[in-house]
Amino acid sequence: MKVNGKHYRTIWIDETVETVIKIIDQRFLPHKFIIEDLKTVHDVALAIKEMHVRGAGLIGATAGYGMYLAALEAPQDNSFTAYLENAGDYLKATRPTAVNLSWAVEKQLIAIKNETAIADKIAISFKTANEIADLDAGYCQRIGEFGVSIIEEISRQKGGKTVNVLTHCNAGWLAFVDYGSATSPIYAAFDKGLDVHVWVDETRPRNQGASLTAWELGQHRVPHTIIPDNVGGHLMQHGQVDMVIVGSDRTTSTGDVANKIGTYLKALAAIDNQIPFYVALPSTSIDWDMENGIEEIPIEERGADEVKYMEGLCEGEIKRILLTPANSPATNYAFDVTPARLITGLITERGICSPNKESILNLFPEKKS
Ligand code: MRU
Repeated sequence: MKVNGKHYRTIWIDETVETVIKIIDQRFLPHKFIIEDLKTVHDVALAIKEMHVRGAGLIGATAGYGMYLAALEAPQDNSFTAYLENAGDYLKATRPTAVNLSWAVEKQLIAIKNETAIADKIAISFKTANEIADLDAGYCQRIGEFGVSIIEEISRQKGGKTVNVLTHCNAGWLAFVDYGSATSPIYAAFDKGLDVHVWVDETRPRNQGASLTAWELGQHRVPHTIIPDNVGGHLMQHGQVDMVIVGSDRTTSTGDVANKIGTYLKALAAIDNQIPFYVALPSTSIDWDMENGIEEIPIEERGADEVKYMEGLCEGEIKRILLTPANSPATNYAFDVTPARLITGLITERGICSPNKESILNLFPEKKS
């Protein structure tokens, strides 16, 4: 995706020093575009935990590079593998909900285990980290190619009039390595010349919609409007939303979806108004071992300060202000689960399917046990 006309991925290797990983530090967007260097597995863990990088696909790709940095740091002796396993556990503990994180760590551990010499183990971890990043970008590109057909169909039904898409949080290119999941069909539709407009939920408490989705849509010149989180239902009741597309941090093998807190309420409003509700996800976000999202998906709880304080630009500087009585407690569940029965379809890199085990396995037959 382009930032001020220049192509960026959200994570890449320094052109001159192969041991330095570059990321866009998302904490400062949309006000400042800051690139950060990650040099150690600790830097990577902190970047994930403190949300310099965030979003399921990007968390996975960052963890992949974290394992490469761990391989560089590890003692070059018999304790190499144990060091890597500990590093994997350390990374996995940073954020619990997006399954891409443990997927990437496991993929690295398997790749490394398959080599005998330590130099080969390091080389394979470098290669695997790059493969994880490329896979993520490729999957998201294909999600766009499949998902655009839904927008095209609505546009056709509306005689070419504006298709209004509502999205929640940021499942855009900033949440992946490139393209995004929920935004990928939107970019594809816009690039094909379809008249598309996006309602962007601000997404309290961290406002990833207002700060990140709005920024990246603006960079691509896609028409969009930011709305407070509680406006979507009203817009749906008044015919101003044609479809909803959101992302997923973890999808069960039965089609339940964990996504940013508030997604479930949008799905309820959508079904009450007969509005199609799609979830776009690469298969790396599917947890093939889980069947009941509400009972099984771990939901991250973050600090109360994210609810009580807000950050923004004030006279040219990023400042933090207190919104609430200083002593009032607050809770901060970061995700909720939308049951499969509220979802119209899943848009994946292999095509669109219904949110149930049979349809998902038809797209991914190699997962049939
Ligand atoms: O807490 P975050 O910002 O890492 O949450 C991730 C998200 O932005 C969303 O839940 C997103 O819709 C799915 S991740 C592609």
